[in-house]
Amino acid sequence: MTKNIIDRYAVMGNPVEHSKSPLIHQQFAIQTKQNLTYEKIQVETENFARDVARFQKNNGKGLNITVPLKEEAFKIATELTDRARRAGAVNTLILNADNRYTGDNTDGVGLVRDLMQNHATQLLNKDILILGAGGAVRGILEPFIDQQPARLVIANRTVSRAFDLAKDFSDIFEIETVAYTELEGQRFDIIINGTSASLSGELPPLADNLFNKNSTAYDMMYAKDDTPFMLWSKKNHAEKVFDGLGMLVEQAAESFYCWRQIRPETKPVISLIRQSM
Ligand code: ATR
Repeated sequence: MTKNIIDRYAVMGNPVEHSKSPLIHQQFAIQTKQNLTYEKIQVETENFARDVARFQKNNGKGLNITVPLKEEAFKIATELTDRARRAGAVNTLILNADNRYTGDNTDGVGLVRDLMQNHATQLLNKDILILGAGGAVRGILEPFIDQQPARLVIANRTVSRAFDLAKDFSDIFEIETVAYTELEGQRFDIIINGTSASLSGELPPLADNLFNKNSTAYDMMYAKDDTPFMLWSKKNHAEKVFDGLGMLVEQAAESFYCWRQIRPETKPVISLIRQSM
């Protein structure tokens, strides 16, 4: 008798208890009639390579990688997509046969798709301000540059970090870097919060009146209630204000596409998760 083996997928991170990835990918699988399972697996950093190899041996076909393992995943990938190489981090592993792993990064494309397709916000010729210069921001820069904005400005508490980040992209775009205090008097069409300040209920020290008319504010974090950045954006008359739930679902859809070559519908899944929050 042959056992019916089902393709396995999972998210690995620490912690992963509250990850919404299983719910999202199970919805994608139902919608596209794909026979697969999707689990969450908590992994200690020092065991990561071993646990990925074990998962692959047990019919694991793909992984999402979350905090704090994205840089580790970058290291163990045997090949990298261009966007993962630029991001310096991997959020998606495609587990090929014979212990070969392709590392990809779908975060940036997820954010760009959420802005452009779900929120009708185009980036072409726009003046864009990005707050923060950590790993999350590094991951989104190339897909943003691909959309040919007029200006891309990074503001960060530690300006040298923003400067170093911009330098890594200087072959494809001239990203400006500033301290928060230097933003006074400037205006932007789109402001993205890529800092982790919202996690601790904080807001970077932003001057008032940074938004142009018809502007968009986007917090890469998501929460049941408005984040401090979203509240500030509303107070400062941003026309459209969004959290990062759509980005979460869009990056998942891109991972799903990498694994199964089928693109799921994201809107019903975004609505479902919003309702469950
Ligand atoms: P991630 O992987 O989420 O990007 P990270 O690499 O630790 O995490 O980066 C966190 C980012 O949030 C940094 O840009 C950090 O600013 P510094 O580089 O100056 O540390 C920013 N950040 C965190 N808390 C902040 C706060 N309260 N106000 C302003 N910026 C903050």
